[in-house]
Amino acid sequence: MRQAPATSLTDLFTAEPDRLSRLAIEEAGLLFDFSKTHISTELIARFTALADASGFAARRDALFAGEAVNVTEGRAAEHPAERGSGAPDSVARARQFHARMRGMIDAIEAEAFGPIRHILHVGIGGSALGPDLLVDALGRNSDRYEVAVVSNVDGAALDEVFERFDPQATLLVVASKTFTTTETMLNARSVLAWMEEDNVDDPYARVIALTAAPDKAVEWGVDETRILPFAESVGGRYSLWSSIGFPAALALGWDAFESLLEGAAAMDRHFRLAPAEANLPLLAAFVDQYYSVARGAETRAVFAYDERLRLLPSYLQQLEMESNGKRVKADGSPVDTPTAAITWGGVGTDAQHAVFQLLHQGTRLVPVEFVAAIEPDHPLDEAHHRTLLVNCFAQGAALMAGKANDGDPARAYPGDRPSTTILLDRVDAARLGALLAFYEHRTFANAVLMGINPFDQFGVELGKEIARSIESEGTDRFDPSTRALIARALG
Ligand code: F6P
Repeated sequence: MRQAPATSLTDLFTAEPDRLSRLAIEEAGLLFDFSKTHISTELIARFTALADASGFAARRDALFAGEAVNVTEGRAAEHPAERGSGAPDSVARARQFHARMRGMIDAIEAEAFGPIRHILHVGIGGSALGPDLLVDALGRNSDRYEVAVVSNVDGAALDEVFERFDPQATLLVVASKTFTTTETMLNARSVLAWMEEDNVDDPYARVIALTAAPDKAVEWGVDETRILPFAESVGGRYSLWSSIGFPAALALGWDAFESLLEGAAAMDRHFRLAPAEANLPLLAAFVDQYYSVARGAETRAVFAYDERLRLLPSYLQQLEMESNGKRVKADGSPVDTPTAAITWGGVGTDAQHAVFQLLHQGTRLVPVEFVAAIEPDHPLDEAHHRTLLVNCFAQGAALMAGKANDGDPARAYPGDRPSTTILLDRVDAARLGALLAFYEHRTFANAVLMGINPFDQFGVELGKEIARSIESEGTDRFDPSTRALIARALG
């Protein structure tokens, strides 16, 4: 399966004079430049044939039509419907739920909950990473509310927020699709206890639940009128478009949330309609498959050259690794190719001074993705943004060009190392929506090419079961190492 590249990046630019115009594609205010990857006209043709043989077009239609594409759980994956791109009934239901969200925001703004200044959102995984990314990226200059997203069950995470939030001015947002996740429910109870200690009048009246299991939220004590539901068919890691995005809609304003949905809808249209050779999520999946399957790349690195997007790598880790980190196909047969590469990354330029040594001179092939924005969002001297972008582009050029060995191997760079650059006009809600929808569809396209179901995540269950059984049944059935660790730490 592994093979050396037939043609170097430099030679590809010579052999394909129209390479840049074909592989630098603009959509929805984002420019995607795949030209510094080894994808060639010939490879695109081969992967397009593979996509056809995998029934890609029919699978994509099934996704947007709300068919049960999540075959192992027998349900649809209806995140596109949240932005108006799905089956009419599902779109109508999503709009009703959004209207309910909007009504809740109006009520909070009308001080129906008192003078709220602090929003404490507890949730984990898909119920935290998306809202956290949105608020961190777009809410920096907002003076509407201060939002904290707490996911870790480590009490230190909540304690840090308790230090700076006022319990009398705090709204507790409990985000959990299932409303049963141990960490979230424990964190939510601790927030209520913190409010009680401060004599907040009826802490439960300060709770808003974001969930696909409203009955569970009611059982837990949330009043039905303060539940913002979303559809069971919206997967956790695809849920920021639903009521899970509530803290972002509150902090950024409803117009910004709608722009986010519109940006995503623009990418949905592109993904549905663009031909394979100009279809951004599909082309990105071709690049991913080429490096993973043909070149044996184990990882893919994403560097946000923009402080506002610093949470993007961790958001993508869940999206890509929880979706496509599988070992069997949708029909249960073993996969015949490696599945999702390990997603990792960081922010530029920090990462240049920490991990880029390996990218330039290490022995491993790591396809790199740079994400940057043309416009800055700060009042500081323009030298800051210029230096940031110059560095970003310099890294891509250096990875590709390398540097010859002038008699000193330690100072030589092999070059011919691939990178993709995604350049946003600016970081705003519409462009971020389009970018995140691009990543969702790329993940789906990869899954189709590999024949796997990206919408289940059974691999996360065993550890949860064992944790529960340690509490309920003790440790006798475990291995000596686990027993000794538990005895030493927990008695
Ligand atoms: O354990 C993994 C997972 O189920 C993720 O898929 C999900 O995003 C996260 O836990 C949180 O789940 P919930 O929203 O149900 O609390």
